[in-house]
Amino acid sequence: MPQVKVDLGERSYTIVIERGLTAKLGSLVQKALPKARRALIITDTNVAPRYGDQAKASLEAAGIAVHKATVPAGEASKSLAQAYNLYSSCINAGLERSSVIIALGGGVIGDLAGFVAATYLRGIAFVQVPTTLLSQVDSSIGGKTGVDLPQGKNLVGAFHQPQLVVVDLDALSSLPRRELAAGMAEVVKHAVIRDAGFLHYLESTTDQILSLDPSVMGAVVERNCQIKGEVVAADERESGLRAILNFGHTVGHAVEASMGFGGWLHGECVAVGMMAATALATETRILQEPELRARLERLLQRLGLPIRLPQGVNAATLADAMQRDKKVQAGRIHWVLPVRAGEVTVTPNVPWDAVQRALESIRG
Ligand SMILES: NC(=O)c1ccc[n+]([C@@H]2O[C@H](COP(=O)([O-])OP(=O)(O)OC[C@H]3O[C@@H](n4cnc5c(N)ncnc54)[C@H](O)[C@@H]3O)[C@@H](O)[C@H]2O)c1
Ligand SMILES: [Zn+2]
Repeated sequence: MPQVKVDLGERSYTIVIERGLTAKLGSLVQKALPKARRALIITDTNVAPRYGDQAKASLEAAGIAVHKATVPAGEASKSLAQAYNLYSSCINAGLERSSVIIALGGGVIGDLAGFVAATYLRGIAFVQVPTTLLSQVDSSIGGKTGVDLPQGKNLVGAFHQPQLVVVDLDALSSLPRRELAAGMAEVVKHAVIRDAGFLHYLESTTDQILSLDPSVMGAVVERNCQIKGEVVAADERESGLRAILNFGHTVGHAVEASMGFGGWLHGECVAVGMMAATALATETRILQEPELRARLERLLQRLGLPIRLPQGVNAATLADAMQRDKKVQAGRIHWVLPVRAGEVTVTPNVPWDAVQRALESIRG
């Protein structure tokens, strides 16, 4: 089965990608963590009825005692209150240092369950079983875990790498179309920052992607995990290279914040953010392949993603939101701008009037 190794020295781990893997979860966990005798599956109310029993049965068949904790679906569960409840679930499940937490769900579950695993008994093993496209290609790789505070997203957390990531491509079949498109935004991002050939592949297989053709989706997820894995391996603690993963996220986060959370999905905001960064790269003459802008616009549109700012959101509202962004506050805005397909550059010196013109050009 296709595997991607994330190379982090002692903390290295494998991402396995195939259809039907939930049924093989037990044997995969047993191989990666031979000493694990107890497991707690952490999942949400949308995922539990679809894949919870299968995951539990597979682990039990491998001789592992399994408890399950189900939290309400949605970002609101990424909270300290839920983490606190889950510590009780860990105790009730009898988890010890050698036990394992299984994160079965999207990015919310991965971040929350990963945070519980990072902190319970000062850290126990965890296995990611990502069930949204976004979590399969993005949030399950990199070791960032955490919860939100009322004051903002991801304000409390820890770096904690999983021991194994199990990507069951069949999980995508029950995912709402809008969630699928949102995940594709991060896929396109990975292609633009690192791999021109992969961007071509996405352009030529868009129809198969939209119909979830298994071999195309397998290839898409695999190449993505390689790209994100390489970037993370080169910069585990986010001091340099990892910044390129922020392509589309400066404006994306600002759109997210200025609409109030609950407006557009994160991936939808990132799509517009990538258009903004590409427009800005055009303005500043950093972009060496002018046709990239139209290619990106067409690809995102075909995938069902927005390419213009939401109505009522303009340069002034976005400037406001960017000023409140914790990453921006720490210093000047570091723009991640495309040079050509497969290559971006990080630059802190962009005049505000160029930003304004770029945002004006993608006004909704
Ligand atoms: N740790 C990281 O590096 C990182 C990176 C990017 C995003 N994130 C985080 O990820 C979260 C977003 O993740 P997400 O988009 O996966 O959201 P999510 O976990 O909320 O999942 C989206 C929705 O899909 C449902 N769902 C999940 N799998 C399903 C399936 N197979 N079939 C049907 N429904 C399913 C969920 O219940 C939820 O309603 C955010 O909290 C974000 O901060 C973390
Ligand atoms: Zn993102």
